[in-house]
Amino acid sequence: MNLYDRIPNNVNLSEDKKLQRALEKWLPNYLDWWREMGPEGFQEKDVWLRTAVDVGSEGWAHFDYVKMPDYRWGIFLEPPQPDAKVGFGDNYGRPAYQEVPGEFRNALRRIIVTQGDTEPASVEQQRQLGKTCPSLYDLRNLFQVNVEEGRHLWAMVYLLHGYFGRDGRDEADELLERRSGNPDKPRILEAFNQPCDDWLNFFAFTMFTDRDGKYQLSALAESGFEPLARTCQFMLTEEAHHMFVGDTGLGRVCRRTAQLMKEGDVRELGGIPLEIIQKYINFWFSYSLDLFGGEISSNSADFFAAGLKGRYKERDQYTEHSATNENFTMTIVEDGQLKTREVPLRNALNEVLRGEYVKDCEKGLARWNRVLAEEGASERLYLPHPRFHRHVGEFAGHTFDLQGNLISREEFEQKKSEWLPTMEDREYVRSLMHPVFEIGKIANWIAPPAAGIKGKPFDYEYVKL
Ligand SMILES: [Fe+2]
Ligand SMILES: [Fe+2]
Repeated sequence: MNLYDRIPNNVNLSEDKKLQRALEKWLPNYLDWWREMGPEGFQEKDVWLRTAVDVGSEGWAHFDYVKMPDYRWGIFLEPPQPDAKVGFGDNYGRPAYQEVPGEFRNALRRIIVTQGDTEPASVEQQRQLGKTCPSLYDLRNLFQVNVEEGRHLWAMVYLLHGYFGRDGRDEADELLERRSGNPDKPRILEAFNQPCDDWLNFFAFTMFTDRDGKYQLSALAESGFEPLARTCQFMLTEEAHHMFVGDTGLGRVCRRTAQLMKEGDVRELGGIPLEIIQKYINFWFSYSLDLFGGEISSNSADFFAAGLKGRYKERDQYTEHSATNENFTMTIVEDGQLKTREVPLRNALNEVLRGEYVKDCEKGLARWNRVLAEEGASERLYLPHPRFHRHVGEFAGHTFDLQGNLISREEFEQKKSEWLPTMEDREYVRSLMHPVFEIGKIANWIAPPAAGIKGKPFDYEYVKL
């Protein structure tokens, strides 16, 4: 562990001078990007942050006050496994790849660039949120997520620089040039060009979109390309907190809304009505489903065959790792009707991964519904059908209701304002977003958390303003 190098790392960077120089050249550009596109207005404040200092499951992080530009962004990979093997696909059981397999070089670079692009994109999407934080606790969590997304960018840039030569370095530069929502040079994936300018969006984003990240990283953590697997395994450790922020954040909004429902009209009392929460769920869940890619995909088959991208928990959950001679039954649209179709399993792996994700999201919904029940509300939140509001794959270009029934475009347009956030809904939510910067205080539209961070109380000075 070289914690005190210019770039903290556990990959012996100082022994690879060429790579070290390339990354040290990229570092000031990264810091320029952070200062320009990172959280606005808080760069000089002390924030009580965790910094990765190790990769073990215990004690991998150090907590202290840090100014965000001084955060120690580092390169940390899980330790290599002796005798690592390719865990699935046509090369199952062969030694894991320590270099990029030639025929998959372009495809693999694309996977890494696409993952890498999401990391700075989310920081850009969230850069104004600090100004309207509901509490110092939430402000600190936002910044924790932001600096770690920055570290995830480092993780991907390390792979690009270390394993893809010149075009990898070019791609690393471009990761700092695209901008979320910019019409001329947008981020690669649509969910990462959507504005995330209020805290309900932020919680829904970290619940649903960061959770897509968990499943993509989990599939890549199985990779037979060992440096990628080891990188993603450690990123998942940090990612868990991002989803915690979204999951508990929305749970706290639900709790407060249910409390206000007992007192009277939620809007008049300055809370967020459940219908609006439901619409935000519909919006971010559907955009996040798109991130898994098409239901039927030759790429997914190729990546699996090559041993590059596995299934969720491939090693632990499956005994058969070739995924040949098996079919997957899915529903598609054909001649204007829903029909079932048998697809070779390898071509359906995006859909298999999406299914795992949906199951995980359902658990979140169950937690929020328990909160509503605890507070005596009879209403319940739900996930829309995975066919609803899709822009990628078999269902893009068709319109569905929340139950997944195929409906006409006219009917969808008529109902849209009941199903997805309207301008007015967004303006209403934004109208509630007044900053609460006093220690231990919290905005009216959200309940305080059950506990603080790392044993500190809720009324700790998480950010020194
Ligand atoms: Fe990330
Ligand atoms: Fe994340």
